[in-house]
Amino acid sequence: MSKKHLVVADTQVKPNHDLSYMSAIGEYIAHKKPDVIVHIGDHFDMESLSSYDKGKKSFEGRRVVDDLKAGHEGMRLMMEPIWRVQENQRKAKKKAYNPEMIFCLGNHESRADRFANDNPEFTGFLGTAQLNLEQYGWSVYPFLKPAVIDGINYVHYLANPFTGKPYGGNALMQLKTVGCSYVVGHKQLLDVCLRPTLDGKMQIGIINGACYPFDEDYKGHQGNNHFRGLTMLHEVEDGFGLPSFVSLDFIMDKYGKSA
Ligand SMILES: [Fe+2]
Repeated sequence: MSKKHLVVADTQVKPNHDLSYMSAIGEYIAHKKPDVIVHIGDHFDMESLSSYDKGKKSFEGRRVVDDLKAGHEGMRLMMEPIWRVQENQRKAKKKAYNPEMIFCLGNHESRADRFANDNPEFTGFLGTAQLNLEQYGWSVYPFLKPAVIDGINYVHYLANPFTGKPYGGNALMQLKTVGCSYVVGHKQLLDVCLRPTLDGKMQIGIINGACYPFDEDYKGHQGNNHFRGLTMLHEVEDGFGLPSFVSLDFIMDKYGKSA
């Protein structure tokens, strides 16, 4: 039987931001009840471990402990509506909603591993394993290892195997390069392509890399003017699904606290 997959794009949770968007995403999930939930990575922003920002004025005051606290708080806010639905179903002695949950680690989570690699005395104390995403029910996939679910490859970004760098080009160019259906995050835009293959099947490629409401200072006005939201794949089977998209604005209007 075909399944419904929800892809939660980069949520980039960091301290000192209103995290109510995470609750709204959780309410949306609890309402739609997809069979599979994939978080495509970069949930923990880990701005304190950004080597790019180190030494800049914007870096002042950043703390690992605050990054971890914010990331866990954001995850808890997203999961609570799902846990509430499950609890109510259990109380009513109904079959509880039990989605398959996949988390693809992003480059932002991987900052913790890179830090421990550069500072070996922190090994076992700071790293992606210590984020313990499993406690929320996620099956965690290492950074850049695709999770293949019903024939769709989910990964934070597609990388050139020789350089490890993200592939450039639009969604169709990347689909032609890798030759199989995929959904990735990382790039803050929405780009989608479909193509038929010679065997009469279909393939899909989606880049959906932002689901947070705030602007990033480093990106300037034009850089911040991009799609924010989620991807749903309907009727997924054998490496293809029919896509629909929902904006974070819509989710917050309909499922947010003030809705
Ligand atoms: Fe990323």
